[in-house]
Amino acid sequence: MKILGIETSCDETAAAVVEDGSTILSNVVVSQIDIFAEYGGVIPEVAARSHLEVIMPVIARALSDASCTWDDIDAIAVTYAPGLLGSLLIGTLTARTLAILHDKPLYAVHHLKSHVYANWLENKMVLSRDGSLAPVVTGLAPSSSAVASGSPRVAPILFPVLALVVSGGHTQILYMPSHNKFEIVGTTHDDAVGECFDKVAKILGLPYPGGPSIAKAALSGNPDKYKLPHPKVRGLDFSFSGLKTAVLRAVQKELGLPISHPSHDLKNHLSSEQVADFAASFQKTAVAILCEKLSLALARYPDIQSVVIAGGVSANQELRKALPEAYFPEPKFSGDNGAMVAAACYYEIESGVAPVDPYSLNIYPRISIES
Ligand code: KG4
Ligand code: ZN
Repeated sequence: MKILGIETSCDETAAAVVEDGSTILSNVVVSQIDIFAEYGGVIPEVAARSHLEVIMPVIARALSDASCTWDDIDAIAVTYAPGLLGSLLIGTLTARTLAILHDKPLYAVHHLKSHVYANWLENKMVLSRDGSLAPVVTGLAPSSSAVASGSPRVAPILFPVLALVVSGGHTQILYMPSHNKFEIVGTTHDDAVGECFDKVAKILGLPYPGGPSIAKAALSGNPDKYKLPHPKVRGLDFSFSGLKTAVLRAVQKELGLPISHPSHDLKNHLSSEQVADFAASFQKTAVAILCEKLSLALARYPDIQSVVIAGGVSANQELRKALPEAYFPEPKFSGDNGAMVAAACYYEIESGVAPVDPYSLNIYPRISIES
């Protein structure tokens, strides 16, 4: 079954064709990062306008890269929630129109579900929790030669699965008893971890998006230079707004400036060595918090067979190194893409989910994965 996946929930316009939930026939992503780097963050109206400009060429390219015509496509999958209202509208209106025009069943897919299902795409790093495999280099994608030679999927992901979703908008631990069933067992009380990377990067004067720039700066930094506190949130929940403030206070203290000193000016006083040390110390703390909660979750759910990590922050190499037994998507599928939408849709169809009405599909900027 060939599914066309369309994703426009934030600032990436993406489309892909995936066969049977795993084989990637094409994957086209047009990122607006260059536009938003100038502003230091996403401007929703600009994002929607940019999606509108490129979505049709992106879909056309996804079909041609996959050597498909519309006749070859069995279903269309589109992100309908959560995300930016205008961005979601462009993706869903396009998908609805195409479904009507080409008479294809249309499936509405939740964005976090898609991130989780990026782990079922081929060419990812796989290492089972029962230790049946020799440790693959932690969290890294297989070498390109292994991918090119079509190396077999080594160990299937087994249920129940624990999924750690770490994106720009969400930080959640999900319990998955079987395909397409999700229970939220932990969530953030305030900021998402990706948002925290982005905000800390801003304080340090590093470019948007903050995750990759913090990771890069941290390479030459000392992760033990600054001691940053772990939030005191009980159970499996998270809080990241305090960590961002802790970095802000530590920077002000390091520079001998008062806490009233504006955060946007601090970057002008920091040396590149200080930036690297703060980036490394912050990254180490954020990764440690995620790992702590994950261990707590594993202790609470001893029946878990596999752990999957999902969302933009799952590209982080330190997180990958810290969790050698977890499944990670290939880094290029950690961020937003259409392939994961198609993969999630395939397992929805397998689970008996019905297509939606292309004449009435709505968008939901804030809806939970459980609904
Ligand atoms: O999943 P995603 O692409 O979009 C959302 O659904 O939110 O996640 C984007 C987030 C951003 O906050 C970005 O800074 C973060 O993922 N990110 C990273 C890395 N690459 C992207 N965070 C840490 N380390 C990275 N290498
Ligand atoms: Zn995302």
